[in-house]
Amino acid sequence: MSISFRAYVTSENSDGTYSGRITERSTDDLPAGEVLIRVRYSSLNYKDALSASGNKGVTKKYPHTPGVDAAGEVAECTDGSFKQGDKVIVTGHDLGMNTAGGYGEYIRVPSSWALPLPAGLTMKEAMSLGTAGLTAALCVEGLLHMGLKSGQIAVTGATGGVGSIAISILKTEGFAPFAVTGKTDQADFLKSLGAEGIIPSSDFTAGSEKPLMKPIWDGGVDVLGGNALTAMLKSVKYGSAVSCCGLAMSPDLPLNVFPFILRGVSLIGIDSVECPNDKRIRAWEKLGSIWKPSILDDLSHETELNGLDEKIKQMLAGKAAGRTVIKL
Ligand SMILES: NC(=O)c1ccc[n+]([C@@H]2O[C@H](COP(=O)([O-])OP(=O)(O)OC[C@H]3O[C@@H](n4cnc5c(N)ncnc54)[C@H](OP(=O)(O)O)[C@@H]3O)[C@@H](O)[C@H]2O)c1
Repeated sequence: MSISFRAYVTSENSDGTYSGRITERSTDDLPAGEVLIRVRYSSLNYKDALSASGNKGVTKKYPHTPGVDAAGEVAECTDGSFKQGDKVIVTGHDLGMNTAGGYGEYIRVPSSWALPLPAGLTMKEAMSLGTAGLTAALCVEGLLHMGLKSGQIAVTGATGGVGSIAISILKTEGFAPFAVTGKTDQADFLKSLGAEGIIPSSDFTAGSEKPLMKPIWDGGVDVLGGNALTAMLKSVKYGSAVSCCGLAMSPDLPLNVFPFILRGVSLIGIDSVECPNDKRIRAWEKLGSIWKPSILDDLSHETELNGLDEKIKQMLAGKAAGRTVIKL
């Protein structure tokens, strides 16, 4: 079956810059895989913004269709894992990195990458959460696994996808989440998610060069890396834990060993890309039920492929708030 479809394709220009445009493609051009999916919704994650702007650390070969998330209906399945019309989601693995991603109306992937649409979520809601939601869920799971039950949890990049959903989940779990943000004008939005307080990012990182900082937090979720993660590890209390998933500020971590050897702090690494399916399914079950943000509709903004350029620019400038869902 050969179908032509529309996709947002990023290409290298003659001057070495990269730009995206909506292009006609054919399912014949898609990679091998057992499941062909008619994508209905995708979403915008930080990694998509990097891929769409020519970041070779994410995508090696261009022209390329970004989109690490996709929700849609199975059009064809060659190994019996799904039947035609089944609603499925795909997040992470290689989708949108070096495999044509969710910014196309069709994707073809290995059947092990596809999960049934989680109960309690429409396709749009699943993409309002997307990789950011899954990652936020894994960050909180990590803290719970370390035995954290209550207290004040600092969350960096709070207005972003992972940060905003982590705040909502932490609140549901009975924690007091504190939003660390560069956008203090978004205080109302952050409070509506469940933030108990708003900390300007510059205040949070002030003093991060000291050997240790005053222990304030009962735990943390960091999406920024760099001095933000340094400050978090140096200012969490004895025996507490920090989930680390991102590098929006920096991939570097200027740190000494004091938080670990003097305060018994644990650093939990979070990866949603290669995360095993049993763990993903458990996280999605919660995202579709007890952890489903009550303000999910307000958290996400819908756009179409022709609105992507603007949203990508905003995200790379750190100006995006909440989640962007793309309707195909
Ligand atoms: N490990 C994994 O599996 C995984 C999965 C998903 C995402 N991630 C990573 O997690 C991070 C966040 O992803 P996301 O999708 O939530 O991105 P996002 O929606 O763009 O949110 C990132 C937030 O961080 C803050 N920020 C951005 N640039 C900054 C800078 N240069 N300095 C300080 N703060 C900055 C902004 O929030 P404020 O203005 O509120 O501070 C921004 O809204 C990214 O690094 C992404 O690659 C990792």
